[in-house]
Amino acid sequence: MNTLKKTVFTAALASAVIATTVVADGHADKAAADAVKARHAQMQMVGYHIGVLGSVAKGDSPYDSAVVDAAAKNLAALAAMEHATLWIEGTEQGTVEGSRAKPEIWSDAAGFKAKFGDLETAALAMVGAADQAAVGAGIGAIGGTCKACHEVYRGPRN
Ligand code: HEC
Repeated sequence: MNTLKKTVFTAALASAVIATTVVADGHADKAAADAVKARHAQMQMVGYHIGVLGSVAKGDSPYDSAVVDAAAKNLAALAAMEHATLWIEGTEQGTVEGSRAKPEIWSDAAGFKAKFGDLETAALAMVGAADQAAVGAGIGAIGGTCKACHEVYRGPRN
């Protein structure tokens, strides 16, 4: 290979390496952004279901045991979702657009998981609530678990 050919070849190789790196980063960025979107969807589902219970507690919706049980069970199921696909390390606030996840989610993974466990327990305690008053009595405990986790593991508004 003469010098010119060598230079062209080296340049081509270098740009191929750069292109591959960019594509790889692009995939990583997309995966991170998708995970943040998905866990926001999880939280919106959580918010929706406590809203259903809140509406019964306030008397805005009529008490219906099937609806109350379904909302409580869905809340518990959402709280029990596995973390590996949603709470991906490296997606804390400041690294991915829209994320408000604090680094403590990963540095204290057991504590974070325990807070989800508290939500699951409070939601399961709501299953079988026999009337509007019982829904009202249990909803404070569920709401308390939202606040307890957000205070420690959710960052300020972006
Ligand atoms: C174990 C911790 C934990 C519990 C329990 C929890 N959350 Fe969250 N929630 C978070 C974190 C962390 C975020 C920020 C996630 C992010 O931006 O990546 C969040 C974000 C949210 C959001 C914003 C979603 C969006 O679209 O940006 C809503 C709404 C929400 N939570 C509602 C609730 C409600 C209501 C409850 C209780 C019924 C609750 N959460 C319980 C940790 C929790």
